[in-house]
Amino acid sequence: DVFFKSTHSARPSSHLRTGTKITVVGVGNVGMAIAQTILTQELTTELALVDIQADKLRGEMLDLQHAAAFLPRTKIVANTDYAVTAGSDICVITAGARQRDGESRLDLVERNLHLFKSIVPQLTKYSPDTILLVVSNPVDILTYIAWKLSGLPSNRVLGSGTNLDSSRFRSLIADHLDVNAQDVQAYIIGEHGDSSVALWSSISVGGVPVLSLLEKQQIPYEKETLETIHSAVINSAYEVIRLKGYTSWAIGYSAASLVKSIVRNQKRIHPVSVLAKGFHGIEDDVFLSLPAQLGTGGVLGVANIPLTGEETQRLNMSAKAIFGVQKQLGV
Ligand code: NAI
Ligand code: LAC
Repeated sequence: DVFFKSTHSARPSSHLRTGTKITVVGVGNVGMAIAQTILTQELTTELALVDIQADKLRGEMLDLQHAAAFLPRTKIVANTDYAVTAGSDICVITAGARQRDGESRLDLVERNLHLFKSIVPQLTKYSPDTILLVVSNPVDILTYIAWKLSGLPSNRVLGSGTNLDSSRFRSLIADHLDVNAQDVQAYIIGEHGDSSVALWSSISVGGVPVLSLLEKQQIPYEKETLETIHSAVINSAYEVIRLKGYTSWAIGYSAASLVKSIVRNQKRIHPVSVLAKGFHGIEDDVFLSLPAQLGTGGVLGVANIPLTGEETQRLNMSAKAIFGVQKQLGV
């Protein structure tokens, strides 16, 4: 014993508390933002990184390992070989092409579908009990593809979806009303993208329904303001991509919030991309965001949130837009 004289016999490993293992596939802007946030929020005892760029992968691993003095003891491993991911509780997939200035998320589908065909089977080979959290875009279609390729039950395959859009929505509403974004209950559902749906009817601040409050106070113009805020949410990724070339920090926090709800069995409700068939009149096998409860079992349930006629119609349009692209892929 170099440092400590052990005073008791070592306990058999079977008595050791089992920790958490999280894999992040893709160590680019997004993968590393997620990895760093997971470590900072102390969400795992083991982090595995995978990428095809061996040098970048090793460099990112070493750079994170060098922060060990500032973090709880965490095993950080990396390899281009998926064996390094074995036994992962959650596999976060961020690998793939990102939008160039002016490209939509849907424009990425062919390139990223190809990658998923090799990535997903390797993840489930080494972690058959894992939960797949898809981030790569177009996230709704790639989550559907991950579900089909993995053979996992749909409750163990989800996409980060509009968890990020809803955060942008809540932050803009909070600024507009000069309140804390955490006190703004506001969901954006549907496609993580251009056809997302803002649920005006269920927005509340500190428990006060916003629309009825505004209508009572005869402030009709505010509804246009909310429409403007939703447009700003839809355009926000394009603006950030135009300015800095990609988005990363917000998705880093968004994905870590989902990981936290899952690994700590928080049973919190997040708008995430789930198998939406059967909800709100959706008849096709599509993944899109609905308010879903998350825990160690993955998607524990979908909140049956009441929608107005217009919201239901727009959600079904979002589902059709996604299914239309899926059909073209022949998947
Ligand atoms: P990036 O180009 O910085 O990183 C992509 C990484 O994937 C690279 O390190 C690359 O080597 C790796 N990669 C490529 N093929 C691979 C394979 N077959 N196996 C393993 N790794 C592979 O891109 P960035 O900015 O990190 O974006 C990644 C993805 O995340 C994009 O599709 C982007 O659209 C998406 N994204 C999704 C968001 C969401 O809210 N769902 C938000 C922001 C980005
Ligand atoms: C976003 C894009 C990149 O940041 O999906 O929302």
